[in-house]
Amino acid sequence: MNILLIGSGGREHALAYAIAKSPLCGRLFIAPGNPGTTAYGENRPDLTVADHAAVRAFCAAEGIGLVVVGPEAPLVAGLVDDLQAAGIRAFGPTKAAAQLEGSKGFTKDLCAEYGIPTAAFARFRALEPALAYLAARGAPIVVKADGLAAGKGVVVAETAEQAEAAVRALFEEPGAEIVIEECLFGEEASFFALCDGTRAVPVGTAQDHKRVFDGDRGPNTGGMGAYSPATILTPALERQVMETIIAPTLDGMRARGTPFTGILYAGLMLTAEGPKLIEYNTRFGDPEAQVLMPRLTSDLVPALLAACDGDVSGLRLDFDERRAALTVVMAAAGYPGAVTRGSEIRGVATAGADADVIVFQAGTRAEGERLLADGGRVLAVTALGDSMRQAQDRAYAAVARIDWPEGFCRRDIGHRAIAREDAGGA
Ligand code: AMP
Ligand code: GLY
Repeated sequence: MNILLIGSGGREHALAYAIAKSPLCGRLFIAPGNPGTTAYGENRPDLTVADHAAVRAFCAAEGIGLVVVGPEAPLVAGLVDDLQAAGIRAFGPTKAAAQLEGSKGFTKDLCAEYGIPTAAFARFRALEPALAYLAARGAPIVVKADGLAAGKGVVVAETAEQAEAAVRALFEEPGAEIVIEECLFGEEASFFALCDGTRAVPVGTAQDHKRVFDGDRGPNTGGMGAYSPATILTPALERQVMETIIAPTLDGMRARGTPFTGILYAGLMLTAEGPKLIEYNTRFGDPEAQVLMPRLTSDLVPALLAACDGDVSGLRLDFDERRAALTVVMAAAGYPGAVTRGSEIRGVATAGADADVIVFQAGTRAEGERLLADGGRVLAVTALGDSMRQAQDRAYAAVARIDWPEGFCRRDIGHRAIAREDAGGA
């Protein structure tokens, strides 16, 4: 079967790596792809993903049997709807179902209606009532833009002044909608479920590192590193998440006439009262996919097909339980703010020569033999190990082989898991 994968990030590099391993995979096309994905398929930067008619025509011309949509933007733009309407099998939620990621307010309302544990919240379309709510609630408090913001539209305000500044800044945007919510305390973990509209099967756990600097300081980013498994999510907690969060979400979406098919990625806070939903994403995480895919021992393609065809019952996705995976994101100086493009990166092949290391590419561009930085998050240097510490050692040894003075990375990816490992806990 010929497969078209949409996207160009580190997540898509990791998905291409997993998809290309499948005996079911014929030709693999990646649109637009990045220099890393050329190892697994044919990049098609000429295909304009936002032009759904062009994507349909491409699928017809190349005999595509499955389209896998990596990022959120094409989901929210309704690419899956337009492909399915043309009889093309496409993995990912419809536009209506992708609102679980596209609108925080939509998700919060669903949580309220179906009793899904989440932070107490209120939605606002105007400045004055929002300020009054802040004054009544005090700090710490969390202020969020309603729409997609690549993980960057959130301010966890420690003080009332910070909260007010965040609210005022968001309402400078005409027509802004915001969510203000209770600040939750605990450890964060990411939980992934493959959904067929009715049922779900768990597809791994990970922990992300959202803040830009060591020690979880500085602004939020798309993610500076991750590891899998998230051992803090014990089997009992995983069952609780499936029962109290994932299952009622699928029921609610079906009851509303917008069943959810695809990857439901629950960003969780493990609070003293149990796991609570911080947010949903409706796709694999980036950089979480870069640690899930290298540990996946099952064939990904039949699982994606089963979800598209509406029946994941009886499906199981296995991960190598003896191996831990850890990825360190190398970003361009200035990220998550403005970055300069075009600096040269050397040593990627040397770093990836170790059998336990894979350097996934994201914001990169090839110019002849040279590899250039072309975005904020540029590389995700991933390693496997028999322990999290070994995976971390290998990942940072690989980072040291990469010669890119204009880049930076966090030095403490995996610190929580390693502290738990050192304490002899799970
Ligand atoms: P989001 O884009 O909703 O995932 O938020 C980005 C990050 O902000 C999360 O990963 C958390 O670290 C933090 N955050 C979001 N909502 C809350 C909350 N209610 N309480 C504490 N931290 C939060
Ligand atoms: N790593 C967070 C995300 O994919 O949104």
